[in-house]
Amino acid sequence: MTAETGPGDAAARPAGRPGAPPRPVEILPDHVANQIAAGEVVERPASVVKELVENALDAGAGRVEIVLRSGGKTEIRVIDDGHGMSRVDALLALDRHATSKIREAEDLRAIASFGFRGEALPSIAAVSRFELHTAEADGEGTRVRVDFGRVRSVDEVPRQPGTTVGVGSLFHDLPARAKFLRTASAETRAASEAVVLLALANPEVGFRLLSNDRALLELAAHERWEDRIDAIWGDLAETLVGIAAPAGPLRVSGLVQRPDAARPRGGRRYLFVNGRPFRDAGLGRIVDHAYRTTVAEGMHPSFFLRIETEPGMVDVNVHPAKTEVRFRDREAIERALHESVRGALAGLGSTRPVGRGGRTGGGAPAVAPGKGGGRRPRSSEGHPAGGAGPPGGGEPMPQLALFISGHRGEGETQPTGVAEDAETGSERAEFHGPELWQLHDRYILAATREGLLIVDQHSAHERVLYEEIMRRFETGGATAQALLFPVTLRFSPGEAAAVEELAGLLGRLGFELEPFGERTFILRASPQPHARFDAERCLREMIRELTEGSPLVDSARNQHERIAKSMACKGAIKAGERLGPEEARELFDRLFATELPGHDVHGRPTIVRLTVDELDRRFGRS
Ligand SMILES: Nc1ncnc2c1ncn2[C@@H]1O[C@H](COP(=O)(O)OP(=O)(O)OP(=O)(O)O)[C@@H](O)[C@H]1O
Ligand SMILES: [Mg+2]
Repeated sequence: MTAETGPGDAAARPAGRPGAPPRPVEILPDHVANQIAAGEVVERPASVVKELVENALDAGAGRVEIVLRSGGKTEIRVIDDGHGMSRVDALLALDRHATSKIREAEDLRAIASFGFRGEALPSIAAVSRFELHTAEADGEGTRVRVDFGRVRSVDEVPRQPGTTVGVGSLFHDLPARAKFLRTASAETRAASEAVVLLALANPEVGFRLLSNDRALLELAAHERWEDRIDAIWGDLAETLVGIAAPAGPLRVSGLVQRPDAARPRGGRRYLFVNGRPFRDAGLGRIVDHAYRTTVAEGMHPSFFLRIETEPGMVDVNVHPAKTEVRFRDREAIERALHESVRGALAGLGSTRPVGRGGRTGGGAPAVAPGKGGGRRPRSSEGHPAGGAGPPGGGEPMPQLALFISGHRGEGETQPTGVAEDAETGSERAEFHGPELWQLHDRYILAATREGLLIVDQHSAHERVLYEEIMRRFETGGATAQALLFPVTLRFSPGEAAAVEELAGLLGRLGFELEPFGERTFILRASPQPHARFDAERCLREMIRELTEGSPLVDSARNQHERIAKSMACKGAIKAGERLGPEEARELFDRLFATELPGHDVHGRPTIVRLTVDELDRRFGRS
């Protein structure tokens, strides 16, 4: 080895220094081994908090209290009402690789507890003044004190069933580690984020977090996930939509933010697999991808997503602090996430409400904790769970369930339970959709079972055109109409170059352009997306936008998307155009046949909904 390394390398490696005396191989004493392990497990007070709270949850606690002083630098105490430990176990738990959670290597494949390595307690005890006080039954109790890895005392001290672990003077004998600790407030923030993460994973457990005697979190045991989120962040919960968990071995459930509520920063993004929180930037990007076109570029929607899969499909033993996991079939996970989020964004619950909107009026469904099973009531959601929505055909189902109140027939005498009837064939055949009104030549109003939908005619038509054009790029088959009087168009040099480059794609949209000398083209045929469509103006505006750029087209990922977005925007019915009843009806029907009817291509809403509940509230009726 020495022969192969150059002189520079040898200088960088003290072991290779000539003259260093050979040293015998020895097994490290326990307290040294524990300190080394602590280097991986215990990075800062937040990691201690995480490990201790996980232990409390593994012990079946119904309530966990966390006490911090100076961000945990001087003191951390975690108190639980779990099953506690006997004297023998309490002593054993401080040994390395002592765990009650797995017995053999095989168990690693199906871990249901947070802990499994048997490293946390000895690691923490190796780098702090540590006290474990635990009891299995009233009147019993063991208290063990350890100072930086050396057991100082073991006493019998009665306590109620449960466990308290106190950790003081963290890293005091390790100045090098202590130096890396941040300010008390930064450490407090990190520790409370650790608590929040576990509180989200366990809504049925009560939590209290005290920092220097001030309560930072006070969370009662909750039944629904929304209530826990509400208790932690307040208003955020109102902006979330439930997603459904289709049955099967791989299930995604949880809550995602309505696109209109997304902000560029500060999104709360949480992933759980089989009840365990984990980090995965790649899956975050998958979720962002599912939001595409429904939010403007750079938005950071919040999400709370639970993945439930067979334990053998996920390896949780891949990261020292267990904050990352590895999936056996990552592609399946990505697909399931994408489809579930898309499914939620396809439903009416994801559209912008007036006032409080969905949660009380049956908009967002309840998500039961633990089971992770979101329900999506048929009556308030557009498309079936996880599905990508109808592919643009004349499928009347979504509207049928939504707008059944607009149906004139036997249904009227029987307002409840109509949604079920709606699925029968005879109703389907008779249904013609809700009555529509156009308001100020700009909005289309429609009554629904829950209140009123207000559709922006321009945005709605943008969504319709965008999806049609993208589909056309995939499948071909443009519908061009020959112009009675071909138009001669002259472009700037840059624009003319763009026209030449894009001629093929424009042709697939239905624009037939024929070069006619210097920067001039003849437009012989064009698409006809609506009655008042001005082909020449649309084309000119598109070419200008595609040449000069705009936030809209710059957010596109490829040439197809660029053109589809631009054409949708420039070709759509404008605000201010009066629509005949048939035109309004057609636009409305086509909007609800799209994959994401509630969102235009700029990341703005196409639909705003007003529930009767909200109206009642405003009129002081409830
Ligand atoms: N709060 C608690 N209540 C009851 N038993 C506990 C508690 N904390 C720890 N234990 C017991 O002590 C053992 C050791 O805990 P420790 O955290 O060191 O390891 P672990 O949880 O098994 O694995 P990991 O190192 O992955 O966390 C646990 O397996 C458990 O039996
Ligand atoms: Mg543990």
